[in-house]
Amino acid sequence: MLYVEILGNLPSLAKSEVKALIELADRRFKIAEEDYLLLAIRGNERAFPFLDRLGMAHEYGILLFSAENVEELYAKAESIDWSEYIAGTFKVDRETMRNCAHDVENLEKKLGAIIYRQGFRVNLSNPNTLVRVYCGKKLWVGIRVRFFKAKTFDERKADKRPFYKPIALPPRIARAMVNLARAKMEILDPFMGTGGILIEAGLMGLKVYGVDLRRDMVEGARINLEYFGVKCYVLKRGDATKLREIFPDKTFEAVATDPPYGSSATLAGRKREELYEKALESIYEVLDGYLSIAFPADFNAEKIAEKIGFEVLEKHYQRVHSSLDRYFYVMKT
Ligand SMILES: C[S@@+](CC[C@H](N)C(=O)[O-])C[C@H]1O[C@@H](n2cnc3c(N)ncnc32)[C@H](O)[C@@H]1O
Repeated sequence: MLYVEILGNLPSLAKSEVKALIELADRRFKIAEEDYLLLAIRGNERAFPFLDRLGMAHEYGILLFSAENVEELYAKAESIDWSEYIAGTFKVDRETMRNCAHDVENLEKKLGAIIYRQGFRVNLSNPNTLVRVYCGKKLWVGIRVRFFKAKTFDERKADKRPFYKPIALPPRIARAMVNLARAKMEILDPFMGTGGILIEAGLMGLKVYGVDLRRDMVEGARINLEYFGVKCYVLKRGDATKLREIFPDKTFEAVATDPPYGSSATLAGRKREELYEKALESIYEVLDGYLSIAFPADFNAEKIAEKIGFEVLEKHYQRVHSSLDRYFYVMKT
């Protein structure tokens, strides 16, 4: 079993991202249980390279067991052989989630003592192994495999890129969109702007394809991709409503994109609804797989997408600020 602790700001999007990634690793891997922000996953270490792609998570690890109460937790901790999981020194670290239903005071000390008695040394400042305890409805004990530092995402925020425009998505969300599109080898963003989605995809090792109507965006996205060390890219100036003309012989396995929401500058003088419908039709022509796409909440994407032939699988709501709320959709051809 594995665990993932997702971010709390967009939990439904974060959970879907996890689901998409574990299914990419193995179709049989499943989210078995959830307890507030903790997801328990039926799967094994073959999921690690995919979970390493996560954007909307704090950390993931190996889930050892869960317990209904603290007594059960201590009994289970006594009975397991920690040498399978602890190499070198260890520390017990507790996460008390908002729904924590147990008295967990001193829990880390008591659990630490049980593990210590099996012959392991504690190191509180720099342990080799971090034993994690989550308190929610239940208690969960695991071993951290990877923690995602907020700083690494912050370093890729729009204003940290050499080519800056205030239209870009936050890197964690851009990354989740790539993952929701279940991209394995490559991805297309037909409204790439400054390249935020493509930077995340490129850093995951995918080949990235980008299109934008504006020449300055194409050049700017190229500068940004190079800055972050992404080398495998194809960028074209062109119209997202005419993708077949831009890529006459190519079918993509995944598309992730964030079309313009309405300012006249980014819409290039077109009616918003018409642009969205034409773009969906055009994406449908070049895609054999999943599309993840953001639309303002007042656009009824489902009806139009289904008319074109897409199967709409999910939508996740986000209120960005007082005058913008949007949905992230996942669709399939
Ligand atoms: C919201 S921005 C994308 C932001 C992007 N995700 C980023 O991180 O920078 C939308 C982009 O779509 C471009 N655009 C507008 N109409 C277009 C069209 N018909 N075809 C291609 N690009 C278009 C705009 O120039 C703008 O750069």
